[in-house]
Amino acid sequence: MTQDMTYARYLALDLLLAAQQPLSDRHDELLFIVIHQTKELWLKEIIHEVNLAKRLVATHDLEPAYKALARVSRIQTVMTLSWDVLATMTPADYLSFRGDLGSSSGFQSHQFRTLEYLLGLKDQSFLKFHAEGSDALVQLRTALEAPSLYDVAIAQLAKAGLAVPDAVLNRDFAQTYAPSPEVEAAWLEVYRDTQRYWELYQLAEKLVDLDDALVTWRHKHVLTVERIIGGRPGTGGTDGIGYLASTLRRRCFPELWSLRTKL
Ligand code: HEM
Repeated sequence: MTQDMTYARYLALDLLLAAQQPLSDRHDELLFIVIHQTKELWLKEIIHEVNLAKRLVATHDLEPAYKALARVSRIQTVMTLSWDVLATMTPADYLSFRGDLGSSSGFQSHQFRTLEYLLGLKDQSFLKFHAEGSDALVQLRTALEAPSLYDVAIAQLAKAGLAVPDAVLNRDFAQTYAPSPEVEAAWLEVYRDTQRYWELYQLAEKLVDLDDALVTWRHKHVLTVERIIGGRPGTGGTDGIGYLASTLRRRCFPELWSLRTKL
């Protein structure tokens, strides 16, 4: 059986390499498709790793969780670098086939929103972009309603004996997370006594790595978008770089950033 296995069959290359279907005859459209498809593949792998990390953090298996989170950070670096490849596409190249995209946009990537939900950025307003009954919506709702990576990390603070309000521990996980002074105070204790709380300190810094890399990716996105379409509105219906610049303020783990001022 395994002797029949080939490289092409194992990787389903027929399927994979048939999935690039440019709508125009423009040279650069293939690059545009490949960049988006590789990003969706990396998102699939990141979601796989973050789900593992969530399970491990919830059961206090922190060392193996660090390994999964370190892998996510490395993948994020690759994703950020890929903007440099896309930036070799000039405005003229892109405008020559942009009309073919219609109203499609990365805005509608259900895997990107799933990742935001898994990390802790819960915003139900993105559900409406996905059809009722679709697998995409099921995946999104599951991630929305479950505790996020940040929720399970905060639960570990409480397990370590730090004071975390019940209202935070038992919150409605589908709602947007509201930063809490008590959670900030608990993380502050971790950062003030790192020897005592070394495992949580290491977890916190791994989380900051992820948040940092996500904002860095967003930053390169908005810059590349400005370079390619300037101030034009997006195909997904926003005002373009104005909207994308506003997303730079999103933080998955807000108290891990705010505590730095008080340390
Ligand atoms: C010519 C290249 C690109 C342009 C001009 C562009 C433009 C935009 C714009 C204007 C938005 C805001 C929504 C809208 O109105 O459409 C957006 C959102 C988004 N784009 Fe791109 N984009 C480009 C390439 C990419 C690529 C290559 C990726 C992924 C690898 C990507 C992923 C996303 C994601 C995930 C969002 C949602 C961001 C959020 O809501 O936080 N985009 N893009």
